[in-house]
Amino acid sequence: MRFKERIAWGEMKRAAIVITGASSGIGEAFARHYARVGYSVVLVARRKERLEALAVTLRGHGVEAAVLAEDLREPAAPERIAAAIERLGWEVEGLVNNAGLGFQASFASMSREQLESMMAVNIAALVRMARVVLPSMLERRRGFILNIASTAGFQPVPYFAVYAASKAFVVSFSEALHEEVRGQGVQVAALCPGPVDTEFQQVAGMNPRFFARSQHVDEVVAAGMALLRRRGALGWTSWSQWWVSFSVRWLPRVWVRKLAAALLRASGAR
Ligand SMILES: NC(=O)c1ccc[n+]([C@@H]2O[C@H](COP(=O)([O-])OP(=O)(O)OC[C@H]3O[C@@H](n4cnc5c(N)ncnc54)[C@H](OP(=O)(O)O)[C@@H]3O)[C@@H](O)[C@H]2O)c1
Repeated sequence: MRFKERIAWGEMKRAAIVITGASSGIGEAFARHYARVGYSVVLVARRKERLEALAVTLRGHGVEAAVLAEDLREPAAPERIAAAIERLGWEVEGLVNNAGLGFQASFASMSREQLESMMAVNIAALVRMARVVLPSMLERRRGFILNIASTAGFQPVPYFAVYAASKAFVVSFSEALHEEVRGQGVQVAALCPGPVDTEFQQVAGMNPRFFARSQHVDEVVAAGMALLRRRGALGWTSWSQWWVSFSVRWLPRVWVRKLAAALLRASGAR
């Protein structure tokens, strides 16, 4: 653990890892990981009871766990989170910018609320969270921001159009920021999972049979840790996911979007 090794044990209680979307899936797995290795954690999501139950378990590792029940669709939420962390007297050692959601359906059939939620959480909140933690990281010349993107961010995905475009934003934003902060002691990276076994697919209204080969959340955490260790800008959760993301570069765009549309239609998307 590179980041753990770099700070003394006494400092670790104040050095917190903020995890958005910690109430389930990938975010919860990151929270468990960081508490296990000795960091204080700040757990952010809407479902307070789930966060509180998780916090009780994590404190069993002898670390501190703060629960901040926030709806990240609200533009002021990241500022409130930053203020709450300051009141605790903790420093943000790392941000796992993980909260996100998708709805799989034709664009025209989606409600305004569904569209707004994807844009507000996957894009706006992710940017705002990065903005509230980055300046103090740069000042201390230490810290990381791990944005959770997706392999969906590497090509257009009909019937998942806004979600895929939001993850393309995350990939582009993360790569740009990675270069901006290079050499200043801070790392920004995007992790790009393929299908993972979480509540995501249920929320998205996806056909579970189509995603029978989903990865376990612990594989995602391990890939995230490997990405931070090698100080990369982009990381994948398996070689096959990496291959899928890169192979589309060499194919005509018209094939890629038609293939994506055919796959989604085959899974039942309309
Ligand atoms: N699972 C996959 O197949 C997959 C693949 C690629 C990328 N990803 C990405 O991985 C990330 C985590 O997803 P997951 O698979 O772990 O799904 P998940 O189990 O559904 O978790 C999503 C998390 O986001 C939080 N969230 C959603 N809306 C929120 C809001 N308005 N305010 C605050 N928190 C909110 C949820 O908490 P509350 O509901 O309690 O607010 C939950 O903790 C997402 O960015 C997703 O796009 C997932």
